[in-house]
Amino acid sequence: MDIKELISEEKIKARIKQIAEVIQKDFKNEEIILICVLKGATFFATELAKNISSPVIIDFIKVSSYKGSQSTGVIQFDLNISENIKDKNVIIVEDIIDTGRTLTYLKSYLEERNPKNLKICTLLDKKERREFDLESDYVCFEIPDKFVVGYGLDYDEKYRNLPYIGYIE
Ligand code: IMP
Ligand code: MG
Repeated sequence: MDIKELISEEKIKARIKQIAEVIQKDFKNEEIILICVLKGATFFATELAKNISSPVIIDFIKVSSYKGSQSTGVIQFDLNISENIKDKNVIIVEDIIDTGRTLTYLKSYLEERNPKNLKICTLLDKKERREFDLESDYVCFEIPDKFVVGYGLDYDEKYRNLPYIGYIE
């Protein structure tokens, strides 16, 4: 498979550091629960967490979306969070927003648990692909409509371990 570099490891790290500083300021050094959306956001969530010096709790959630016989995608839970997020500062950490379906669903699901704040932080945003009215509060990089891999993102479960973000032609 021919993979071309889109964003280098250095640029990713530098940008995550910037976003971590913005988050820390926004939350005034209060405790934050980062909810990492498995599997893609793992590399991003750990790097983000390492760059936040206020107290951080890390939790995980795993959802999968599959297309049934109808054209509407259905979302199901494979793993739920273990923390009680009521009255807490919560940030959903995602690898990429494409149509926005996954996060629209996740956001309303978590909102029902009455967190004090619920924000979205994404590594990548493919804005032009959006089908749902969803905005991310923190975006590291807006990218064009290309299929990307690396830094946690997969193609058929492979290439997550690439240290940079590349695209498949
Ligand atoms: P959405 O629900 O359409 O926003 O899709 C988001 C999910 O689709 C992400 O969490 C990824 O798992 C996957 N995805 C979307 N675009 C890409 C891509 O370019 N590379 C790898 N995974 C992608
Ligand atoms: Mg994926």
